[in-house]
Amino acid sequence: MKKYLFALLMVCLPAVALAAGGATYPMDAFKADLKDQESLQRGMGLFVNRCMGCHSMEFQRFTRTGADIGIPDDLMEEYLILGDHGVNDQMTISMDKVDAATWFGIAPPDLSLTARLRGGEWIYNYLRTFYRDDAAPFGVNNPVFPDVGMPNVLEDLRGVVVNHCTHEELLAHGGFTGTLDPLTGNRSGQCLQVQPGTGSMTTAEFDQAIYDLTNFMTYVGEPSKLQAHRIGTYVLIFLVIFTFVAYLLKREYWRDIH
Ligand code: HEC
Repeated sequence: MKKYLFALLMVCLPAVALAAGGATYPMDAFKADLKDQESLQRGMGLFVNRCMGCHSMEFQRFTRTGADIGIPDDLMEEYLILGDHGVNDQMTISMDKVDAATWFGIAPPDLSLTARLRGGEWIYNYLRTFYRDDAAPFGVNNPVFPDVGMPNVLEDLRGVVVNHCTHEELLAHGGFTGTLDPLTGNRSGQCLQVQPGTGSMTTAEFDQAIYDLTNFMTYVGEPSKLQAHRIGTYVLIFLVIFTFVAYLLKREYWRDIH
């Protein structure tokens, strides 16, 4: 019995150690919907226009992406292929990694597999929590990725976001989910606040845009998933028809024996 208790303790220890660690940012939930083609298409539009200046998706080809998410090659070429790529090319970029490392301190990583490594929830929250921080090297910070080396490239959409809390409070209360403290009254409970009139999107529109972008990145992380769903349907239809044929065949064989 003692042995089992000891084993149980060893199994639980890592969880206890994690729980005892410092505060981590309370993430908003994210659930990908790979069947929502319009969301995936909008996400790709945003990615190509706002992210591909710095980030590649080297494991992904334009034409394959189009086939998977419902964008014909000609529309892809007209609207989504910037620079001199063809539809059969991979989604690479021309920025030199060494130059980029000099500009940003670290080269912007390829994002083909980021959704698989970090998870959709991480990306969805990361992209929605940039805020101004004069002490940080790029003038921005992020509770999901502290001291981040990426500039806030969507500030014109989101607006200028300011953190009204300490770093610890920000981690404990979250970005846009806190409540006003009626006792002190001098600090709004929401740590991250958008300065009105500085962004072109409302919070709901921005959340939707980042949802689409994260959805698209989730698809790119595992493109075969969409194909697997499609093939899966055909396999099931085939099995039903085959079962019927097998049944007819069985009846035919047994007719002579009875
Ligand atoms: C001006 C260049 C630039 C642009 C444009 C840009 N990024 Fe970044 N991004 C970076 C740099 C540099 C890093 C590395 C940050 C670090 O490690 O501190 C980064 C890191 C990231 C990471 C974290 C990767 C990881 O696993 O560590 C994600 C996710 C990301 N970017 C997504 C995006 C998305 C989505 C867009 C478009 C909305 C975008 N980026 C636009 C420069 C850029």
